[in-house]
Amino acid sequence: MSGKIEDGLIKPTSSMVTYSSYLKVHEILSLQNQLSSPPEHDELLFIVIHQTYELWFKQLLHELDLAECELGKNNSFGALKTLKRMTEIQNILTQQVSILETMTPNDFNLFRSRLNPASGFQSHQFRSLEFRMGLKDSAYLAFFASQPEGLKALESAKSRPCFYDHLLWFLARQGYKIPQEVLSRDVSTAWQPSAPVEDVFLTIYENHQDHLSTYILLEALCDLDQQFTMWRYRHIAMVERMIGSRIGTGGSSGVKYLASTVGKRFFPELWSLRGRIGSNAGYGQPVT
Ligand code: HEM
Repeated sequence: MSGKIEDGLIKPTSSMVTYSSYLKVHEILSLQNQLSSPPEHDELLFIVIHQTYELWFKQLLHELDLAECELGKNNSFGALKTLKRMTEIQNILTQQVSILETMTPNDFNLFRSRLNPASGFQSHQFRSLEFRMGLKDSAYLAFFASQPEGLKALESAKSRPCFYDHLLWFLARQGYKIPQEVLSRDVSTAWQPSAPVEDVFLTIYENHQDHLSTYILLEALCDLDQQFTMWRYRHIAMVERMIGSRIGTGGSSGVKYLASTVGKRFFPELWSLRGRIGSNAGYGQPVT
């Protein structure tokens, strides 16, 4: 490192990498352009929160790449490490909602009309995350018609295997009896819940001492899935608080539409199997 040291401080020269040049602080701070005029105080918060979400979505997609790669190398602990990080990030995303809730509906209404028809519907990173987790609903592609880059990213997320495919291929290599039709399914389609996969998982859960590392990995996936669900609940409650029963800026029925999404699960079998654990021990049968 070059530079003069005076009183214990390194004085940067113009050629040195600095905090600001490395992190592009100047560029980042120039990207919060408010549409309200004169600027409404809370619009900055609204922009900062959304931009923060998009940065974390970027990191989540980055971690997902690594998790898939680790499974490809049969390194379940490597996958576990990055999945745990994803869950922590998602936890923060859920908690961040409360910052936005310090904005009242009156404050929001001062600039809401300016956003029309922009909406979270158009977050291609959020939708890519869903697609890459197996929730591939082509109907959402229509919202990206005017965003060629977003559409391209989403189409790529749709065509590639989802994380679940990587997991099941990994489990098959470990000797678990995943049916061939599941292993060779059309990966560009949405994941469909599979009874034989649930049976394999149930065996692991019922005999978890014999399958400890797989059991821990599956529970980590459940943690991640649950955090996404928690975000959906928190987002809905916040939206209802802000706009009540109004339609969304994206044109949906608002809270009613969002309520229809809370049942989404990335790993449905990991949830359905729970009603079957211990069935033979007299804990009762699941409601069908
Ligand atoms: C005042 C704050 C907010 C309100 C009133 C709001 C409202 C809504 C509404 C009504 C929808 C349904 C689509 C539509 O018709 O527009 C929606 C979807 C969505 N919003 Fe928000 N939102 C807010 C904040 C946020 C924040 C901070 C994020 C973080 C990225 C976010 C991400 C999303 C996403 C990803 C969707 C699509 C959800 C899905 O289709 O499952 N929203 N939002």
